[in-house]
Amino acid sequence: MRLSLSKRSLAVAATATLAASLVVVATSTANAAAKLDNPYAGARMYVNPDWSAKAASSGGQAIANQPTAIWLDRIAAIESGSAGSNTMGLRDHLDAAVDQGANLIQVVIYNLPGRDCAALASNGELAPTDIATYQSDYIDPIVEIMGDPAYANLRIVTVVEIDSLPNLVTNVSPRPTATPECDVMKANGNYVQGVGYALAQLGALPNVYNYIDIGHHGWLGWTDNFAASGQVFLQAARANGAEPSDVHGFAANVANYGILDEPFFEATTVVGGKPVRESTTWVDWNNYVAEVEYAQAYRQHLVGIGFDAGLGMIIDTSRNGWGGPDRPTRASTSTDPNTFVNESRLDRRIHLGNWCNQAGAGLGERPKASPASGIDAYAWIKPPGESDGASREIPNDEGKGFDRMCDPTYAGNPRNNNNMSGALPDAPLSGHWFQAQFEELLANAYPPL
Ligand code: BGC
Repeated sequence: MRLSLSKRSLAVAATATLAASLVVVATSTANAAAKLDNPYAGARMYVNPDWSAKAASSGGQAIANQPTAIWLDRIAAIESGSAGSNTMGLRDHLDAAVDQGANLIQVVIYNLPGRDCAALASNGELAPTDIATYQSDYIDPIVEIMGDPAYANLRIVTVVEIDSLPNLVTNVSPRPTATPECDVMKANGNYVQGVGYALAQLGALPNVYNYIDIGHHGWLGWTDNFAASGQVFLQAARANGAEPSDVHGFAANVANYGILDEPFFEATTVVGGKPVRESTTWVDWNNYVAEVEYAQAYRQHLVGIGFDAGLGMIIDTSRNGWGGPDRPTRASTSTDPNTFVNESRLDRRIHLGNWCNQAGAGLGERPKASPASGIDAYAWIKPPGESDGASREIPNDEGKGFDRMCDPTYAGNPRNNNNMSGALPDAPLSGHWFQAQFEELLANAYPPL
């Protein structure tokens, strides 16, 4: 049992006796005992100087001191002076965090074999079978660096493998959304094995807090995706040496655009005689219309199937503000369900399945600890200004493909129900600086800057 599990209940039951907490300490493992219930509570968060300088020199002085996550998106990113736009390695960032007097740093673990099996923009460097390389050349060196006693006072939040496990449910045969690549990753088990290894090795460090990616409400919010994905998370949390207690929480909406809350309707809101869940193409039978309710419900579900009762959720709010002139200010008065939802919704995307460089998006809530029940933090995991993918083919040595979901002229595929992509034009490769998008994010920030 983790102490953090019981710490949350102790916080709730303020009358808990000293005797009870002593029992808890006695049954905790040495490592777990050091972990905090919510690492973000009262934390001084690390500001990445690389991102900060880019933001400041690109018109974003007002937000340049916000904490954003470090993405270890290839083996070379662990070392300093690696290729690409970022020059600092993991040790440089950890040293800089200590120098800043910070005590929390956010790191994205993102290099699975056969990465991003349902899309092309962030395909990685490792082939589907490269699980041994993932473990020995990627995870092991990260664990070694993070385990250096020089960083013992840093709370290290790891967001583990974006867009991987949910693909094993939603984008595999016989679904119409299947891709051959995701079928391969399901069959060979390397996403589950890789995530299990990462959770086990990182989770053994007393100051590392693992959060597994759970996609977003517009991906797993449907009944048949939600529970099935929960089982895959549990499977990964029991694979390759991991245990559910290695999972501190889950991260929603990473690099996505889902709104925190739709103030003017819920899935159950009745318009024209029926809940909008059943009668609109926007909600389309989803159980959720926004990220906070999704993350809270998932938290409860995950605890129910065997994860720790102390789980906390992170929601990425870097680009889900949806402010600016097109933001609705009141509920529509239409009695036509589709018109009602389309005129009322803050999320202005063409379709919920759109994910690449969305036109009209704005910065969301600034990073904040404990913003709602069960939510550890709103955090900026995707650094604003970094592209989701190139809008046309750009030759590169980063393993990045061209995904037409990043092309504004693309009319879609089954994963966005054949809608236009809604992407901005002229975008660079994923992870590269996209000035036009950054300016739009600033202009459409909500809360405004
Ligand atoms: C890219 C990574 C990048 C990350 C953060 C991903 O889409 O594939 O290379 O580090 O976004 O911007």
